[in-house]
Amino acid sequence: MEKKYFIKTYGCQMNVYDSHRMAMMLEDMGYVKAQNQLDADLVLFNTCHIREKAAEKLFSDLGRALAVKNEREEKGLKTVIGVAGCVVQAEDEQIFKRAPYVDFALGPLAYHKLPNILRQIELKQQAGVLETDFPAESKFDFLPENKAEGGCSFLAIQEGCNNFCTYCVVPYTRGVEYSRPVKDVIAEAQKLIETGAKEINLLGQNVNSYHGEDESGQERNLAYLLNKMAELDGLKRLRYTTSYPADVDDELILCHKNIGILMPYLHLPVQSGSNKILKLMNRRHTKETYLDVIAKLREANAKLKFSSDFIVGFPFETDEDFQETLDLVEKVGYIQAFSFKYSRRAGTPAAVMENQVSEKVKKERLDVLQTKLFDLQTKFNQSCVGQTFDVLFEQKGRHKGQLIGRTPYMQNVHVVAQSEMMGQIQKIKILSATTNSLKGEVL
Ligand code: SAH
Ligand code: SF4
Ligand code: F3S
Repeated sequence: MEKKYFIKTYGCQMNVYDSHRMAMMLEDMGYVKAQNQLDADLVLFNTCHIREKAAEKLFSDLGRALAVKNEREEKGLKTVIGVAGCVVQAEDEQIFKRAPYVDFALGPLAYHKLPNILRQIELKQQAGVLETDFPAESKFDFLPENKAEGGCSFLAIQEGCNNFCTYCVVPYTRGVEYSRPVKDVIAEAQKLIETGAKEINLLGQNVNSYHGEDESGQERNLAYLLNKMAELDGLKRLRYTTSYPADVDDELILCHKNIGILMPYLHLPVQSGSNKILKLMNRRHTKETYLDVIAKLREANAKLKFSSDFIVGFPFETDEDFQETLDLVEKVGYIQAFSFKYSRRAGTPAAVMENQVSEKVKKERLDVLQTKLFDLQTKFNQSCVGQTFDVLFEQKGRHKGQLIGRTPYMQNVHVVAQSEMMGQIQKIKILSATTNSLKGEVL
């Protein structure tokens, strides 16, 4: 009987991409996707270590997975439990100390070894296989070809980070920056388009520091790559994320003027509006240089809208610093954003800074900030009512005959539409709007 896999993904879009690549590998080995955990011979958690909550979630989910494993055992069924992703890199052997029933743990740079590890476990019936060395080879050279799953695809072009923001674990979990060669990116993009992708979102932890080699060995930047991508037949939409504001250069700004398929929406995380806090965070931008980049981007393309990430309650953050964040939010007028309470991460410089902010103050500030951000988001969504947008349909809605797609601005749109429109782009007139989604009709 064919084996079934179940993958649960936490964290960022890079993890979504990695999970997809792991699923492809499993399918190449003959596995099929399980509808739920109880049905799965292999349960894989692809984890995130960015904030304490994200990491702790894993251990409660693992507890539940053990219960399911025991339940299956009573029916004579074996279950392999695996953990991948950033928690593995950070916790190393600790994973097995806290959850000894985990069969294998695989760091984010080593998941190309998944098939081998599964064979190893099958042959030796051995548990506790760990792979957390940063391998010398690039996993991308060992993965089977990627395939699209629907109209929107992620494509990792860069991984790791050299920025060392003082709060962040990513440089430790994903290692130093690595950029894939131009040729490999284009080849993967072509495969994705052939298998149905209309939109490709180029991914990297610090995507705009991309510096992959072309065929002559010359290093090329993100602007070069975007222009190459724009030449691909059949690609209708192009995005890239996440950008580091200080690394947005003039060539990249020009892309927003010249590349028609580049969507008018950019995630440009600022984190804070206070220069004092930005410095303590080791971000290489100030409020002024950030606003300057935004102004230049708007000059290149007046339609461009922005989203951001924010951290509130970073050590030493006063009410005045926080007010500066609110002022910046107002100035930029973000149409979407993610905001978080600062979370102390062991091993990062900010975790041991003095003047940590109390949980109570963090919560109050987050509430104020989110109210403001939601208000801006609602206003923008409402301003779209009556307008017509190209919408790329990505999933079925909860109601019968309904599909959900995205506008160029990443808004979710619910539309009554035929299921053949899935994975396709349609002109949709927007009828109504709430904070989180729009309703529209096919024109
Ligand atoms: N590379 C991206 C962000 C990666 S992490 C960038 O530089 O912007 C995604 C977001 O998680 C960050 O932008 C930040 O807002 C948040 N984050 C990271 N570490 C955090 C921490 N220790 N506490 C709270 N939020 C954090
Ligand atoms: Fe983390 Fe900063 Fe790198 Fe983003 S730029 S991944 S926040 S260290
Ligand atoms: Fe989380 Fe790792 Fe992404 S820590 S945010 S899964 S890079």
